[in-house]
Amino acid sequence: MKTPKRLLPLQEEGMIDEVLSQLMSGKEAIVYVVRCGDQIRCAKVYKDASQRSFKQAAAYQEGRTVKNSRQARAMQKGTKYGRKMQEEVWHNAEVDALYKCAAAGVRVPIPHICFEGVLLMDLVSTEDGAVAPRLNDVALSHAQALVYHEELIYQVVLMLCAGIVHGDLSEFNILLNEQGPVIIDLPQAINAAGNIGAASMLERDVNNLRSYFSQFAPELAHTQYGKEIWKLFAAGLLTPETVLTGKVAQDKRPVNVRAVVEEIELARQEAEERQRYLESRQPEY
Ligand SMILES: Nc1ncnc2c1ncn2[C@@H]1O[C@H](COP(=O)(O)OP(=O)(O)OP(=O)(O)O)[C@@H](O)[C@H]1O
Ligand SMILES: [Mg+2]
Repeated sequence: MKTPKRLLPLQEEGMIDEVLSQLMSGKEAIVYVVRCGDQIRCAKVYKDASQRSFKQAAAYQEGRTVKNSRQARAMQKGTKYGRKMQEEVWHNAEVDALYKCAAAGVRVPIPHICFEGVLLMDLVSTEDGAVAPRLNDVALSHAQALVYHEELIYQVVLMLCAGIVHGDLSEFNILLNEQGPVIIDLPQAINAAGNIGAASMLERDVNNLRSYFSQFAPELAHTQYGKEIWKLFAAGLLTPETVLTGKVAQDKRPVNVRAVVEEIELARQEAEERQRYLESRQPEY
């Protein structure tokens, strides 16, 4: 096909030789199948921020690092330079997460480069060379659902051990080939240690898997892998070898109400003191 404008810079630089077809136009990006020498790859062309949806939310930006404070200020103010920076941070987040995941042994497409807002990566395909279907498009047997669920829980653990939470994991962002599920679409991936929302995002990711697979294997509906995984991670006990149960022990110890009330009172006094201190430092005009 005729090379789309956004792919011309990559063609000019010799990173791609030919654009074969358009695969998909999603919410965030348009995906093409391309030829690079004798390799068939996938080019994900990011849409402009104005055309994108929820993933821009502040929660996902937290803990992301930028090179210097000028960039951080520009991003906060939303200047033209700031918006360009924000775009770059967004694009690089996906390629960074893919590299880290691949290094940790997570089944993701191997990334090659991110250039001019285009991510070039391996095409996930089936043995007959067709593009791999999305999990959502495949009918599953009870046994398959249990196997894929277990494999994906393991992938989530591997990612978390590498410090990453996907943040948008669902049957729509998982492809399936003969070797099993492959996780895609990671621009919103977050740093597990540097984001206070990480626990709830991890749990949501895992619960999305639970909801999907329990349609085929109803016994999964009551599992609590998300909570269990995070609990172990937060305690520094999670490794790829950890054997999970899908159950979380409830804390049955009686609550010490007096200690809680004292704790609240101390926090209140501390806040008051801080306020008084700040007020005493107000400049006088
Ligand atoms: N490496 C790949 N190999 C094969 N197909 C891919 C690959 N990457 C993306 N796709 C296809 O392109 C679609 C869109 O990709 P992706 O999910 O990364 O972008 P998106 O814009 O966030 O999409 P959506 O909004 O639909 O989630 C995927 O659902 C998948 O079918
Ligand atoms: Mg997607």
